[in-house]
Amino acid sequence: MTVTEKSPIIIKVLYDEEEHLLTTYTAEYRNLMMLIFDKIYVQNFGECGGMGRCATCLIEILKSEHTIPAFDRNEWSTIKKTGITDNNIRLACQIPVNELLHNATIQIRNDRGF
Ligand code: FES
Repeated sequence: MTVTEKSPIIIKVLYDEEEHLLTTYTAEYRNLMMLIFDKIYVQNFGECGGMGRCATCLIEILKSEHTIPAFDRNEWSTIKKTGITDNNIRLACQIPVNELLHNATIQIRNDRGF
């Protein structure tokens, strides 16, 4: 099935040994952090409100059928401060919610923040 802008986007999110299947639509949320913040209670998540500065929204992309847009400069500099060098680890607040996330599996990291 081809995913269009009007198709539901289903994302599997793993957190605290639980699996959450989140359904959304393109641009329903400003970014992945806002979607997770709204649907799952994650303590101290997204503390800078999506400014890309706190790293409390760190996630790992475990599986994706599509290439998620690359780091921007600010995202990479914030992640580097955590000491992480894995390209699959991202700031959820810097990832747009669109069809590229359909069927992705994402782990919310326990080592969030500085
Ligand atoms: S919410 Fe602070 S870096 Fe993403």
